[in-house]
Order: sequence, then structure tokens, then C-alpha cells
Amino acid sequence: FKVLVLHGPNLNLLGQREPRVYGQVTLETINQSLHNLAESLGVTLECLQSNHEGVLVDAIQDAPSHAQGILINPAAYTHTSVAIRDAIAAVALPTVEVHLSNIHQRESFRHHSYIAPVALGQIAGFGAESYLLGLRALVAHLQKVAS
Ligand code: DQA
Repeated sequence: FKVLVLHGPNLNLLGQREPRVYGQVTLETINQSLHNLAESLGVTLECLQSNHEGVLVDAIQDAPSHAQGILINPAAYTHTSVAIRDAIAAVALPTVEVHLSNIHQRESFRHHSYIAPVALGQIAGFGAESYLLGLRALVAHLQKVAS
């Protein structure tokens, strides 16, 4: 399988951005850990970070041509983007939503996710580990439906 990993706005700043909330880990380190796990699970990854909603929508629309699932941290677009939600619904690829922080424990505007209703599930609150748990869950799902 191939999985498309999408990181939304401001996640390029991980490591320097609000480290008390998001930790010290950089996006590069997260992608490296994901690649290591992917290798042990026998899947390949394509990782993309963008600060632009339309770039993320385009990547989701293109995903079915080369990927079987999507792992996404939509970042602030989680709470605002009907366009990203509609793109996920349109392509109908299994999608797992992840967040470093526990969005349900934070400001009330972060409690609602436009993405959650079109995702297989959501993993939030485990820092960089959320991504690894999300990848495991997605790959387990893909293996189950393929068998
Ligand atoms: C985030 C949570 C969002 O509320 C926030 O806008 C982010 C990061 C997380 O990973 O915890 O940028 O998605």
C-alpha cells in the first residue's frame, strides 16, 4: 500500500512553535519516524506539508491515482475547512485524522472538527506518537479490507 501523509498550516514550524503545546519535535523528525514505521509495516509514504488550503485539496483529489489511504493532520483547517472535508468525502479513500495536542481539552473553537465525520477515526493528544498510532490504524484497516 501507499499512504499519503498530509500536514496542514504552521506544522512546518514544529519544534519552534509553542513547544509547550506541540513539543520539541520537528516535522522532519516526525516524517522520518513515519517512514521508519512504514518500512516495518511494508507500506510506502508520500509526505506533504502546506499552508494553503487549495494545495491540500488538490493533493487529496490526486490521491486515488497513487495512494490507498490518507493520514492527515489538517491543523487549523480542522476547525474551518468544509473544502478539505468535501475533498475527503469525494475521493472516499480511508482517512485517519491526527493531532499532536488533545483538541478536546483546549479552547472550545478547537473542539469541533469538520474532518472527523468523513474520517475512519481521530487520534489526538499523544504528540508525535499520534501520527504513528494513526499510521498503524490506517494500515491495519487497509490490510483488513484487502484480505
Ligand atoms: C493541531 C491542533 C489544531 O487545533 C491547531 O490549529 C494546529 C495543530 C494539533 O496537531 O494538535 O495547528 O492540529
